[in-house]
Amino acid sequence: MHKQKSIGIIGAGSIAEAMLDGILDEGILLPENIYITNKSNDDRLEFFRESYGVNTTRDYKEILSKCRYLIIAVKPADIGELLAVLKKWVTMNHIIITLAAGITTEFVETSLGKKIQVIRAMPNTSCKIKESATAIALGRNAKKEASDFAKEIFSSIGKVSTVEESMMDAVTGLSGSGPAYVYLLMEAMVEAGVKVGLPRSLSEELTIQTVCGAAKMALNSGESPKILRKKITTPGGTTMAAMKVLENANFTGAFIEAVDSATKRSRELMTQHSSLHKFRHVL
Ligand SMILES: NC(=O)c1ccc[n+]([C@@H]2O[C@H](COP(=O)([O-])OP(=O)(O)OC[C@H]3O[C@@H](n4cnc5c(N)ncnc54)[C@H](OP(=O)(O)O)[C@@H]3O)[C@@H](O)[C@H]2O)c1
Repeated sequence: MHKQKSIGIIGAGSIAEAMLDGILDEGILLPENIYITNKSNDDRLEFFRESYGVNTTRDYKEILSKCRYLIIAVKPADIGELLAVLKKWVTMNHIIITLAAGITTEFVETSLGKKIQVIRAMPNTSCKIKESATAIALGRNAKKEASDFAKEIFSSIGKVSTVEESMMDAVTGLSGSGPAYVYLLMEAMVEAGVKVGLPRSLSEELTIQTVCGAAKMALNSGESPKILRKKITTPGGTTMAAMKVLENANFTGAFIEAVDSATKRSRELMTQHSSLHKFRHVL
């Protein structure tokens, strides 16, 4: 990656910050070559300017004239309106990465009215500490250059998998929302620890290190989570006693239903929020 590359980030919310934090920390881009904007929150832009030293502006034209690479990090509900405005200044030379859950590359191309290079990406908030599980899907016009750029950006803040776009809603349901599932599990473990008699601070400390250690085991041992679990579940032992309770409560079934529901929600976002018909026309 040439540090001199200029990148425009449209949307200054939590995922934009998490990404920026990781990218700048990794040193693959220079803050003076990053331009960020949002809709109306001035304090937030000031925060970005002061904390990260990046450029802030409300002038889309400025961003699009200075930056070939654009990262769109607005909510799915806002993307239709945004693309309708950007259309005036976007050229075939631009390369767009969209993070909006559920929004297809086809929708972005069609809304912009150009056979432009678009990449759809789904990182998660662990990009802040360079541990994101990101999946990217290439739009039909995306060339190697666009894919290399996206891979370089996202591999600097975690691991990247390239997938067919048809898988992106499932990715969103699994790893996009995934950190929240793990936090919920951790919340439950902390409460359980308190319930069985531990001070809250100790319960939190033990929970966090346990999850961290188990994740590192799964990452480094080369064994599947299932095998690792079986190895430490002795018949008649303490872990087995806990597993029986979780099985009876349909833990796995509930989890599958949860991820399925998030996946369906990602699919719905496309139709609900993107005003598809309004901007649709043949390229
Ligand atoms: N959070 C995650 O873990 C995560 C993970 C992967 C992907 N994503 C995707 O990333 C996108 C952003 O999520 P988020 O959690 O970062 O949302 P967020 O915190 O609500 O931030 C959204 C940002 O978009 C800005 N915005 C809205 N309309 C705009 C416009 N027309 N022009 C410029 N900026 C505009 C908002 O500006 P104002 O504040 O001024 O209104 C705000 O800065 C979503 O589509 C989400 O699906 C999120």
